[in-house]
Amino acid sequence: MAEDSVPPVDQMALATLNDDVSTPFVKAQFSDRVLIRTILSRPDGGASLAGQTVKVGGWVKTGREQGKGSFAFLELNDGSCPANLQVIVDAAVAPLGQLVQTGTCVHVEGLLKVPPEGTKQRVELRVEKVHHVGPVDPAKYPLPKTRLTLEFLRDFVHFRPRTNTISAVARIRNALAYATHTFFQNHGFLYIHTPIITTSDCEGAGEMFQVTTLISDAEKVEKELIKNPPPSEADIEAAKALVKEKGGAVAQLKSAKASKGEITASVAELNKAKENLSRLEERSKLKPGIPQKDGKIDYSQDFFARQAFLTVSGQLQVETYACAVSSVYTFGPTFRAEHSHTSRHLAEFWMVEPEIAFADLKDDMNCAEAYVKFLCQWLLDNCIDDMEFMAKNFDKGCIDRLRMVASTPFERISYTEAIKLLEEAVKKDKKFENKVEWGIDLASEHERFLTEVLFKKPVIVHDYPKGIKAFYMRLNDDMKTVAAMDVLVPKVGELIGGSQREERYEVIEKRILDMGLPLEPYEWYLDLRRYGTVKHCGFGLGFERMILFATGIDNIRDVIPFPRYPGRADL
Ligand code: 4AD
Ligand code: MG
Repeated sequence: MAEDSVPPVDQMALATLNDDVSTPFVKAQFSDRVLIRTILSRPDGGASLAGQTVKVGGWVKTGREQGKGSFAFLELNDGSCPANLQVIVDAAVAPLGQLVQTGTCVHVEGLLKVPPEGTKQRVELRVEKVHHVGPVDPAKYPLPKTRLTLEFLRDFVHFRPRTNTISAVARIRNALAYATHTFFQNHGFLYIHTPIITTSDCEGAGEMFQVTTLISDAEKVEKELIKNPPPSEADIEAAKALVKEKGGAVAQLKSAKASKGEITASVAELNKAKENLSRLEERSKLKPGIPQKDGKIDYSQDFFARQAFLTVSGQLQVETYACAVSSVYTFGPTFRAEHSHTSRHLAEFWMVEPEIAFADLKDDMNCAEAYVKFLCQWLLDNCIDDMEFMAKNFDKGCIDRLRMVASTPFERISYTEAIKLLEEAVKKDKKFENKVEWGIDLASEHERFLTEVLFKKPVIVHDYPKGIKAFYMRLNDDMKTVAAMDVLVPKVGELIGGSQREERYEVIEKRILDMGLPLEPYEWYLDLRRYGTVKHCGFGLGFERMILFATGIDNIRDVIPFPRYPGRADL
């Protein structure tokens, strides 16, 4: 096959199929190597490939010189799977001292061989040619081969993908993203890209990061004024006088019927003086600091000529598409300027938000349950080696938990029932830090008690008091609760928040006003109710919370490639 031609799909699939030992491996597309996964993930561990010559590339996990320095063993990982390929290099092929350092990059070619009896590897690579070495100075490389805590690794977000844990999380995260698109595409949902910069606060909670160029513009002006001080009143008066003088000269020449050449030259001088004056007047308007008008910041001078923010949720915008093309979803980064230092909150996190027309709260719960089950089954089917790594190193029960969630119907209880159950528990001496009574927002400890202790499975709590939920949730007939639902899961607590949306114009307008929110930014949202309104619902799944739930990893900062939280935004 020509290097630059893409093989037919069925042949590409051969590279990943691991139920047929007779399958040849296939060179990686667009990269000069064979993926280590396509060698090691075969049912015979790659033994049937013995005798074949391959090129592989990766980073050395551990290396050791043996036989008095006559050869070296390298454990090589290329990120395609958790397993390492054992590589053997003779001293005659390359200087070994450099190769054995943890973190070294090598691109090598050699012969696959079955190792001697008694070793755990089923295949190893005998190197014949070294194509590239990216060396590491072990005295300076920050990731030694000893076991490192996830907290320590947060100081090296640029290197941590080279660790077993962070690369396994990356593969699981990737699989969950792929599964998400597969699930919604299979069910006929359109993927809509909602804006990251927004001018409306979806949750109405005022936790938005502001997007503005006023500060950097003000800094530029301040720097410029120091370098180049603004003109004084006297400078401007002098420039005005010059314009007057030059104007007078032109008039005089004209009345004296001077030659055309003389008049043109004089007019040019007048124009120069005018330009100079307007430049000085323009500069004299430059003021240090943020522009103000009527004692407030003048946002008409900001980049978007109004206040703008990073989105906390794509929901409001995706609703415009649901109210036109019926079943949609958005999946993107969202931002919240909450000062929470918990292991469940990030300032930048990813959210999956489906929105469905002609659907009510029950449809919403059914969709959420089917989606979460699909994700769990997907990991069992596609990521079992990484999940086994998680079970061994972080959470013994994580694979059983996926199986349980994939196969068990979720419990569904109303908020009112949930409060009753919590009150009964308190009577039986269960201690919570936060008081339990009807009307409270459930705290994480309450949510986890319901899902981990009482039901031991995912629980969907529905119909919450209106006072603790957002303005867009549909008011129930009791006038006290709204058609909201949260999916609570073991390990995490709240994984999903969703609701049926208020589709009645008068009701939603009143809700916005009752909550003390301004109507103006929501006028377009109200239009969806004014014109062609429809019953609809949706939810948001916190993507990192899903990864916490799946892997059993404790801190949300370790399941996103580049965590952002109060005080930290590396890279
Ligand atoms: O419950 P939330 O705030 O719901 C919404 O934003 C709705 N607009 C969603 C919708 O109906 N389309 O957030 C949804 C989920 C939560 O259940 C939680 O899993 C996650 O987003 N989440 C966070 N994840 C990480 N860090 C944070 N600071 C989070 N805040 C919410
Ligand atoms: Mg919520």
